[in-house]
Amino acid sequence: MNRTAVVPVIAVDGPGGSGKGTITTRLAAHLGWHFLDSGALYRLTALAALKSQVSLDDEAALGELAAGLDIRFELDGENVRALLDQQDVSDAIRLEDAGASASKIAALPAVRAALKGRQRRFRQMPGLVADGRDMGTVIFPDAQLKIFLTASAEIRAERRYKQLKDKGESVNLTRLFREIKARDLRDQSRSIAPLRPAEDAVIIDSSHMSIEEVFSKVVSLI
Ligand code: C5P
Repeated sequence: MNRTAVVPVIAVDGPGGSGKGTITTRLAAHLGWHFLDSGALYRLTALAALKSQVSLDDEAALGELAAGLDIRFELDGENVRALLDQQDVSDAIRLEDAGASASKIAALPAVRAALKGRQRRFRQMPGLVADGRDMGTVIFPDAQLKIFLTASAEIRAERRYKQLKDKGESVNLTRLFREIKARDLRDQSRSIAPLRPAEDAVIIDSSHMSIEEVFSKVVSLI
């Protein structure tokens, strides 16, 4: 019998800014389960490419890079720190540029193939909450619960704007909105593992819901 098949998975997919990150980390803590931030793997790959001066168009080199990444996630209170080559890069991978580069390399089949096994290895007892774009469609198609969390691009841009403002960064709402739309389009229209709900996913539109309301809704589904 395949041992990993019995480890339960809750897959939460959707575009950036839908509230996925907050909901999934909270859910994993609530259940005492493991947590996979699959977007961080793409962001780390993009950052590693930048560091080793590998072009974001060089699919073969990026695939090799992704396969050999030295990365670790460490729990620091409620936060997860991401380490690349033993260096804390948690802040660097959260920058808008890192997200845009991640979205570019995420369209390359060699990169996705290299990261597939790495993601599946997070499936360990007592269970896994997986956050991403293709958790329910490609990585864990047999997940026990699949959620597709979304929100309008306007609302997601506003949320991001507020987040960055609170951090003291200078931001432009119109530019953020344009970037979000561009990233959505790239994620939805790529030929491999495009961003879309699995057929058996429960779709939640968080545009007019608070984080608490979304969380209660997800818990009620479990
Ligand atoms: O979720 P996050 O914004 O950190 O993801 C960064 C980028 O990585 C996304 O825009 C998407 O292109 C890519 N990604 C992906 N598949 C995943 C997670 C993220 O293609 N499972």
